[in-house]
Amino acid sequence: MTFKKYAFLAVGLPHVLGLSSLKLSGPPSLPSTASHALHPALGSFSIETAFFEEFVGNTSVPNTLTKNLLENLKARTGTPAEVRIGGITADSTYWNASQEVSLVNFIDSTGALHNTTIGPGFWESVKLLPEGTKVVMNLDLHDLNYTGALSVAESALKGLPRQQLELFEIGNEPDHYLRFTPQNYSAIWGTWAKNISDTLALKAPTFQVAATVEDPLWPYDAPGASSQLDCVSVLAAGANKQGVVRSCSEHTYQYSVCDPPRTAVATLPNLVNHTRLAMYLDLWQPRIKSVRKQLGPHSFVVGEYNSVSCSGKNNVSNTFGQALWLLDTTLYGASLNISRMYIHQGGPLALQSSTQLNHGGLSFYDLWYPVQNMNGPVKVFPAYSAYLFVAEALGHSESSRIANIYPGRQANGSSITTALGDESEGQLVAYGFWDDKLPSGREYPSKLALLNLQIYNQTQSIPRPSATFDISDYLKNPHRPVTVRRLTAPGADVKEANVTTWAGQNFASGVAAGKFVEERVSGGKITVKASEAVLVTVYCSPTVNCPSYRH
Ligand SMILES: *[C@@H]1O[C@H](CO)[C@@H](O)[C@H](O)[C@H]1NC(C)=O
Ligand SMILES: *[C@@H]1O[C@H](CO)[C@@H](O)[C@H](O)[C@H]1NC(C)=O
Ligand SMILES: *[C@@H]1O[C@H](CO)[C@@H](O)[C@H](O)[C@H]1NC(C)=O
Ligand SMILES: *[C@@H]1O[C@H](CO)[C@@H](O)[C@H](O)[C@H]1NC(C)=O
Ligand SMILES: *[C@@H]1O[C@H](CO)[C@@H](O)[C@H](O)[C@H]1NC(C)=O
Ligand SMILES: *[C@@H]1O[C@H](CO)[C@@H](O)[C@H](O)[C@H]1NC(C)=O
Ligand SMILES: *[C@@H]1O[C@H](CO)[C@@H](O)[C@H](O)[C@H]1NC(C)=O
Ligand SMILES: *[C@@H]1O[C@H](CO)[C@@H](O)[C@H](O)[C@H]1NC(C)=O
Ligand SMILES: *[C@@H]1O[C@H](CO)[C@@H](O)[C@H](O)[C@H]1NC(C)=O
Ligand SMILES: *[C@@H]1O[C@H](CO)[C@@H](O)[C@H](O)[C@H]1NC(C)=O
Ligand SMILES: *[C@@H]1O[C@H](CO)[C@@H](O)[C@H](O)[C@H]1NC(C)=O
Ligand SMILES: *[C@@H]1O[C@H](CO)[C@@H](O)[C@H](O)[C@H]1NC(C)=O
Repeated sequence: MTFKKYAFLAVGLPHVLGLSSLKLSGPPSLPSTASHALHPALGSFSIETAFFEEFVGNTSVPNTLTKNLLENLKARTGTPAEVRIGGITADSTYWNASQEVSLVNFIDSTGALHNTTIGPGFWESVKLLPEGTKVVMNLDLHDLNYTGALSVAESALKGLPRQQLELFEIGNEPDHYLRFTPQNYSAIWGTWAKNISDTLALKAPTFQVAATVEDPLWPYDAPGASSQLDCVSVLAAGANKQGVVRSCSEHTYQYSVCDPPRTAVATLPNLVNHTRLAMYLDLWQPRIKSVRKQLGPHSFVVGEYNSVSCSGKNNVSNTFGQALWLLDTTLYGASLNISRMYIHQGGPLALQSSTQLNHGGLSFYDLWYPVQNMNGPVKVFPAYSAYLFVAEALGHSESSRIANIYPGRQANGSSITTALGDESEGQLVAYGFWDDKLPSGREYPSKLALLNLQIYNQTQSIPRPSATFDISDYLKNPHRPVTVRRLTAPGADVKEANVTTWAGQNFASGVAAGKFVEERVSGGKITVKASEAVLVTVYCSPTVNCPSYRH
């Protein structure tokens, strides 16, 4: 079957009656648009260097909330989420071998953070992450001090077991400083990466290049598009001339509160809209394709991302709506062959922008507050549970592939948008997972993720709307029951994890509380309330992909 025909069948026939029902028309077999085999650490983390101790603690005061939340994810896939230690403060982080405390932030009387120094205790903190956690360490490029970058790299190598240190990055968002061009960036970056590799006898390639943040210009032939500093331009300019590059990272933040015009657009309804997030991530498709072609299937990562840059927005990025955004963003990113996505955690930085909304404390987009701070007490936010959903969708399988089946993709790879026939206006989304290792694994999906992004706020007094997804075309035997796990909360505007549940349980204290709930549904009709998402397991085998985790 040709690609074109598939696209037509998948998206041309659904019978949408308002928003209340959607028939997903097959075929049920592995779509030609399906992703690579998904990486078990798809849902990973980026922790701002200066805030690392707040999140993880140290050997005398380890942060048990962070530890428990990360262990919950590891239990579901068998592989810990990866942790990238980096961000803006990585470009002013220095090594001090004689420093007794693990990490010192130099903060002046105006609250501005000038620099961060780390000592040997810092690496002891990193070892508090769940066993097997792979770490990406971001070195300083901005000072153009090679010796400084080398000494942090060397300390990491001495301080961590070799298998824990996965990769180095040199520089964070270098497209925002020193007026780098792809040429002079690649010359400096490439020389440093090669020198560090040689000096520390690293088995090359151990570097992740770019870590850039500007959105791609669109379309491809827009003036200036090819001279942006990004994965493709730096590889073309010779960053990997000496074989040091394992992978490439770019950062994504669709919304921002760095300045008032963008603050006005950073609303909950904009965030919780599949059309908007898919059109945004689609900008990266050409880059993802190019990098994977050059460096291999798992070589393109989003090494830092969140919904709203400059530390999030109260009532937007700390709500259950952010959970729906995080779930859809991670699954859609995976469907574009992004290997891993590292959700950024940290706090506002006083000098990021003179017009920014946030000052002090921890960020309004963090998935939890590991410590009491200016913006609130120790707390888990609803969005954390989205990563539990992602982890159980993957399970322990290493052969699962994802495709966006509604609204789906056009023949040219673009998202189906509202204008092009998504009658749900970006509110109903369906993904399928196919697993080669299962019998009939290419004929039928093993799991489906069904999202209803229609906004329902707990403050609304109308009955909560719902939509019914008819998945019967995707079932070998529609009479055989499927199992359903639900990600839900009283509304998209909810900010409490104690009323946010995944498979019936809440994780407000860091560990599962409440009764585990898994529904069994026959007949292929699955009802999903407005502002809710479900994971449907169609077929699973305990040795391959069952969501093994339950209480
Ligand atoms: C993702 O990778 C798979 C396998 O390499 C490929 O068949 C598919 O076309 C890719 N998808 C996109 C959106 O590029
Ligand atoms: C390194 O730390 C030691 C111990 O705190 C301190 O005395 C020294 O001044 C620090 N060195 C630098 C360069 O900051
Ligand atoms: C460990 O953390 C505690 C609490 O923040 C702090 O008081 C102590 O100095 C830290 N120890 C080291 C070695 O950094
Ligand atoms: C950190 O910044 C302060 C203030 O600018 C400066 O005095 C200090 O030397 C800096 N520390 C390092 C290690 O560069
Ligand atoms: C470069 O870094 C090294 C090692 O941290 C430090 O000793 C040196 O003073 C730095 N040089 C400059 C010009 O800051
Ligand atoms: C890179 O080249 C540009 C254009 O010539 C120049 O403006 C910039 O200063 C250079 N950056 C560095 C770090 O050399
Ligand atoms: C890289 O190493 C070479 C040879 O050891 C040395 O000559 C050069 O100065 C180093 N480059 C940098 C940027 O330090
Ligand atoms: C957040 O929402 C609450 C009501 O839910 C309101 O009282 C508060 O003013 C809002 N804060 C901001 C910053 O919008
Ligand atoms: C794909 O085609 C649609 C029109 O059908 C167009 O809106 C979109 O921009 C195209 N995408 C690309 C990448 O060319
Ligand atoms: C979602 O965003 C798209 C594109 O901006 C828009 O056309 C659509 O109406 C939005 N959906 C809702 C429910 O607001
Ligand atoms: C839900 O609440 C958000 C703010 O928390 C608001 O922007 C949105 O318009 C509300 N939606 C509805 C349908 O009430
Ligand atoms: C959830 O936490 C909030 C804030 O601490 C509290 O007001 C509320 O009573 C709690 N709800 C439940 C169901 O525990």
